[in-house]
Amino acid sequence: MSSIHGGSDSGPTLLHDFSTNANPLPVPASLSTALQAADRSRYPDPRYLALREHLGRAHDVSPERILPASGGAEAIRRLSLAALLHGMREVWVPSPGFGDYAAAAQALGLRVRSYADVTQLLQELSGSAMVWICEPCNPTGESLTSAQIAAVAARAALTVLDRAYEPLRLAGTAPELPSNCWALHCPNKALGHTGVRAAYLIAPEADALRHRMQELAASWVLSAEGQVLLMQLHRPEIQTWLADSRAQLRRWSVQQREMLMRSSWQQRESCTPFWLARPPAPLNHEALRAHGIKLRDASSFGLPGWVRVATLPPQSQLALKKVITQ
Ligand SMILES: Cc1ncc(COP(=O)(O)O)c(C=O)c1O
Repeated sequence: MSSIHGGSDSGPTLLHDFSTNANPLPVPASLSTALQAADRSRYPDPRYLALREHLGRAHDVSPERILPASGGAEAIRRLSLAALLHGMREVWVPSPGFGDYAAAAQALGLRVRSYADVTQLLQELSGSAMVWICEPCNPTGESLTSAQIAAVAARAALTVLDRAYEPLRLAGTAPELPSNCWALHCPNKALGHTGVRAAYLIAPEADALRHRMQELAASWVLSAEGQVLLMQLHRPEIQTWLADSRAQLRRWSVQQREMLMRSSWQQRESCTPFWLARPPAPLNHEALRAHGIKLRDASSFGLPGWVRVATLPPQSQLALKKVITQ
């Protein structure tokens, strides 16, 4: 409950939310219609067989390797617990990185180690540890190479690739997934539906942890609407919309970077629609909030004075510009 996140908070609904990593493009009507039609009058299939078969076909893996989860956050907690029950005592997390990896490990009494880059990780990693790789990484928008990921996976007891932002990768290509890695897919961000709690894991073939993960899953872990969202992801119309979204976000991010550069903001490179930026003077987040604008304060990532800023449409960029150039 105490983890710090961008996006919605306890205040009024935001007008220009630069603090969320969700796709800001309007979703296809067919996706909204499908979600509205989700059958909430009965339990989903407790085995999620049709869903696992569907996702298995999409990823060219057997349905047994697909594990539905009620969101990436839930999957992170469950995998950390499974790792502990399998005797792992140390968890490596990217820094800066998504805070839930460390929060889950800490809550279980696991030793948390953070890595700034793969060279450091490979120097210090022991063969009995779990490693989280966020690919591409939140909040940096950085990406590792296939060779780097393979080197980590060859050494760690358990490597998990969090692919939450893969569908929103704006530059480069996705690195290869070594055959002994777990993959976490959290498509609610790319699909512009973070309020729908739905994700899935792909386990490596014949992995000892898979059975444990199934045992640890709550019954009906995925809601009826969560199941619908995951069923929609690979539909051609949705994939085309995602490709169009990426093209639009590429254009908007160039404009937004130019606007911030003109305001003397320092900005880091990124292959995602979000990136780390540092305004010339500390931002008054309360004053921005009063204008319905929010940026993700990066202090909790260990970067005081920095923010994570997501790409929004030109009218939102204009609203931000007005406030920061006042
Ligand atoms: C890298 C990463 N992984 C996982 C999650 C969890 O997403 P969800 O629980 O909505 O699937 C987030 C949310 O911000 C994230 O940034």
